[in-house]
Amino acid sequence: MKKRDDINHEAAISWYLSQKAARAGSPVNGTFELTGRCNFSCKMCYVHEQENSDEWKEKELSVSDWLDIAKEAKQAGLLYLLLTGGEAMVREDFVELYEALSQMGFRLVINTNGSMLTSEIEHCFKKYPPARVNVSIYGASEETYENLCGRRAWRKVTDTVRKLISMGISVRTTTVLTTYNCHDIEKIYEFDKSQTSLIEMTPYLFPPIRLKQGHSGENVARLSAEEAGKYMVKRDYLLFDSREEFIEKGRRFLKTGTGCPYEIQHLGNAQGDESRCGAGRHSFWITWNGKMRPCGLMTYPEADVRKLGFDKAWKQIKDEVSKIRLPYECKTCKHSQFCNICAAICQSETGRFDQRPDYLCQMSESAKAAYAEAIKMLQGLEKKEEADE
Ligand SMILES: C[S@@+](CC[C@H](N)C(=O)[O-])C[C@H]1O[C@@H](n2cnc3c(N)ncnc32)[C@H](O)[C@@H]1O
Ligand code: SF4
Ligand code: SF4
Repeated sequence: MKKRDDINHEAAISWYLSQKAARAGSPVNGTFELTGRCNFSCKMCYVHEQENSDEWKEKELSVSDWLDIAKEAKQAGLLYLLLTGGEAMVREDFVELYEALSQMGFRLVINTNGSMLTSEIEHCFKKYPPARVNVSIYGASEETYENLCGRRAWRKVTDTVRKLISMGISVRTTTVLTTYNCHDIEKIYEFDKSQTSLIEMTPYLFPPIRLKQGHSGENVARLSAEEAGKYMVKRDYLLFDSREEFIEKGRRFLKTGTGCPYEIQHLGNAQGDESRCGAGRHSFWITWNGKMRPCGLMTYPEADVRKLGFDKAWKQIKDEVSKIRLPYECKTCKHSQFCNICAAICQSETGRFDQRPDYLCQMSESAKAAYAEAIKMLQGLEKKEEADE
């Protein structure tokens, strides 16, 4: 297991490089979405297609396509490369591609559902260790996996986490909280904690705007905004190192006052801030069929990398992103430091970058109420503990 100091040190270096890269307009961070296919069929997924879909397989970039792009991207400054999907490991040529990318010197991180680790992949990871593997944990039982992902994969996934850790590989567990698995939150956390200190849980689900067929844009698995706010606080309670840290965040949140100022009227032509995250400033995403986007959760702006080449595509994406303005309400909102507002969320919730996503405002309101309740409960507990001593 990595030590916390090492993790903080690494995060600080990566943050510093990303800030410098953003100023220089260099794409230091990139994501290659190696496939859209997957052996799971998670109800909330924004991208997946069946593992054996020939139609999608034909449109996927080949190993040589990816390596050509990687060479150009490296010249342009790419250093941190995330491999994702669909499920990257469904590709028969995953090992060939991974080894070639690793030999090019990228710091590789892989997103996986953890169900397809083979002895061939293990062997390859021993030879060329990834910087980290992010394993999604979708439940804490075979039943939850079956209900959410369509597969009874709990045992295989947890074995994968143990295996990777025993090989000395850094593992981050990631969980999206949905209506199908939120009841498992404590058990998921127990498992995560027993394996790694890198744990991520998110109660926010994007509407699957990338999928046109069979999806209405509604995410059937997502929690109501009110529930998502409550789970945000529950997540914080589990993940903060101490009760004091949790109470401190809650107090700061509560200080923002009651009622979200998004109610303000008469905005006229007032403009919001520029996009705040790294997408299109120091990072890019290339979809399984070769389209560069600032982030994989967006559908536009978009540039065809094979037609334009990496440099032109990156320039086009950067130019488009520099024109994005977030909602004016968010600029003045006191909740903004606690709210995950970003360009991709605005686009997928409202179809525009400059329109406030109501779901997020409601989630913030609900989280604030849940924090107030939790703090009251903990203070009562503390008084009782003091009296018992
Ligand atoms: C699309 S998956 C691809 C990698 C791999 N198959 C996995 O499940 O980890 C990448 C990440 O996106 C998350 N994800 C899927 N659908 C989502 C949605 N609608 N909103 C937010 N995150 C989502 C998954 O839980 C996973 O952590
Ligand atoms: S495992 Fe990942 S890619 Fe596959 S369906 Fe689930 S979220 Fe989507
Ligand atoms: S989306 Fe977030 S930052 Fe924007 S108005 Fe709503 S709560 Fe405030």
